[in-house]
Amino acid sequence: MVWTSRPVRRLSGAIRAPGDKSCSHRALIFGGLASGTSRFTGLLEGDDVIRTGAAMQALGATVTRTGPGAWEVTGVGPKGLTSPAAPLDFGNSGTGSRLMMGVMAGFDLTAELCGDASLSSRPMNRVLKPLREMGLRDTAGPDGRLPFALTGSKALTAIRYAPPQASAQVKSAVLLAGLNAVGTTVVVEAKPTRDHTERMLQGFGAKLGFSTRPGTGEMEISIAGKQPLHALDAAIPGDPSSAAFLIAAGILSPQGDVMVEGVMSNPTRSGFYDVANLMGAHLGAEERGEAAGERLIDLHAGYAGLRGIAVPERLVASMIDEFPILAVLAAFAAGETRVTGADELRVKESDRIKAIVAMLRVNGVKVEETEDGFIVQGCAGPVPGGGLVATHHDHRIAMSALVMGTAAQKPVSVDDITMIDTSYPEFLGHMQTLGADVREV
Ligand code: S3P
Repeated sequence: MVWTSRPVRRLSGAIRAPGDKSCSHRALIFGGLASGTSRFTGLLEGDDVIRTGAAMQALGATVTRTGPGAWEVTGVGPKGLTSPAAPLDFGNSGTGSRLMMGVMAGFDLTAELCGDASLSSRPMNRVLKPLREMGLRDTAGPDGRLPFALTGSKALTAIRYAPPQASAQVKSAVLLAGLNAVGTTVVVEAKPTRDHTERMLQGFGAKLGFSTRPGTGEMEISIAGKQPLHALDAAIPGDPSSAAFLIAAGILSPQGDVMVEGVMSNPTRSGFYDVANLMGAHLGAEERGEAAGERLIDLHAGYAGLRGIAVPERLVASMIDEFPILAVLAAFAAGETRVTGADELRVKESDRIKAIVAMLRVNGVKVEETEDGFIVQGCAGPVPGGGLVATHHDHRIAMSALVMGTAAQKPVSVDDITMIDTSYPEFLGHMQTLGADVREV
């Protein structure tokens, strides 16, 4: 199903940011573990999150949709999770599958896990390795790819673990296994990654310890095992990763005037906005209170002429999902944009370094692939466009390419849009509301 985005002069309007994907997964998981009934509003109803809810339901929680974005979850409490009757299908979701592996590890249950072609090609050893050290058993082969079965245990032992990669999913899987282990589990993080697990677990009543190791900047996060969680009512904050597409569209539009409301402002997620400002965007931000322990802001973007930069490596983890859309900004900028230290992009929903490079090249932009990033020679204005982008079943490549088409010289097409539903089902509607000409060929 080929969709095309045609150049338009003006994108304008205000859009409420969709619920944050990371927080939505965690809300359903922690609600499903807690005692009592949690109520959430503004939950992201993307396919990835729905599958996490279905997995919690299959493991014994009661997960009910009560209205648009409104969900009630009655958790299993002290009874704990139980073996599901059928395999758990996580679809396209790395977060759902990896966090749930950590959760299931701490209960006496056996479950089969599977996913789509993209998820089945992604590395799971990064999670299996520490979980096995704690006592998890599994049927995964040496390559650690789905599908496989795992058997958890209530007698998991706590560990101290320093993940070799900057990954919130690995950190979260170990902390969630630690929540039901015997003893205190410690994760040592060399570079900070998104901290929603830590924040939200505390909202559900868990106690965590935090300390920074002097001199190294490393953060130690500890969690004592066998802690109860208590139900929580929460509004899910808006997703800064989804908002980034609309904000980028506003920056590139010749008469852009785009507002995105209720966006979560968290330093572990804000790298894209920092980099956009460094490139010359003048983003406006206005405080909008709090939701689920996170600060909210309204973000505003208008047209700005951008210049290329070397993206500071310290910002990479806080914008790890935003490199496809950053690459689009870089393509319109004057001069060179250099991304380094981003090798984790190789194991996202696609090999995102390859997919980004191909997306730009097919639209007439000069770009070079490197081992841990890419180098874009910006066009100092509208990119040629005219290309058909191969999405490789990657939602963020599809959305980035369609944003590029709004301001390119010629239309930009994508080979598929269906997977956009995994993270941002309202994306096409929101773009059309802003005035984008995005439709099936
Ligand atoms: C996520 C962590 C990140 C991110 C993903 C969501 C999370 O993955 O890319 O979209 O919710 O914990 P990694 O942990 O693999 O970096």
